[in-house]
Amino acid sequence: MERTFIAIKPDGVQRNLVGEIIGRFEAKGFTLVGLKMLKPSQELAETHYGVHKERPFFKDLVSFITSGPLVAMVWEGDGVVAAGRLMIGATNPLTSNPGTIRGDFGVSIGRNIIHGSDAVETAQSEIALWFNEEELVDWTPVSTPWLYE
Ligand code: RTP
Ligand code: MG
Repeated sequence: MERTFIAIKPDGVQRNLVGEIIGRFEAKGFTLVGLKMLKPSQELAETHYGVHKERPFFKDLVSFITSGPLVAMVWEGDGVVAAGRLMIGATNPLTSNPGTIRGDFGVSIGRNIIHGSDAVETAQSEIALWFNEEELVDWTPVSTPWLYE
């Protein structure tokens, strides 16, 4: 089953959106298989956003991501990587569709609440970066036959 890495960024935690966001992924029908709260190190944040290291916003992005606790999660389900990105919305919350997490709760690109892996391969490397194998739980929710035919 496909998995994606989702992180509620420090602004989402400070704004008490953890329950709301987890609720959306649960209600959609995805399965939570990993969850922890942490204040990421500089090295972890720089590796996670390594693809952006030449961009002008990189320094601010890393300092923001390391500024406070975030909630790191792994969610599982058919098509969860692409569906997770749709649920999150466009990078800039001012142009994210209403109904998306960023569209409903944000106004600024540098405070856009949540991260989601952008492709299946990215998800695999991000999950391995943020979680140890023993922190991920294989389980089958009782709702599975009511979600998948
Ligand atoms: P994320 O990786 O955090 O899920 O966001 P994303 O895929 O929607 O956007 P990405 O292009 O990967 O950018 C990563 C984060 O960098 C910040 N950003 N700032 N000032 C700017 O022009 C700018 N562009 C991007 C955003 O916080 C974005 O989430
Ligand atoms: Mg990205």
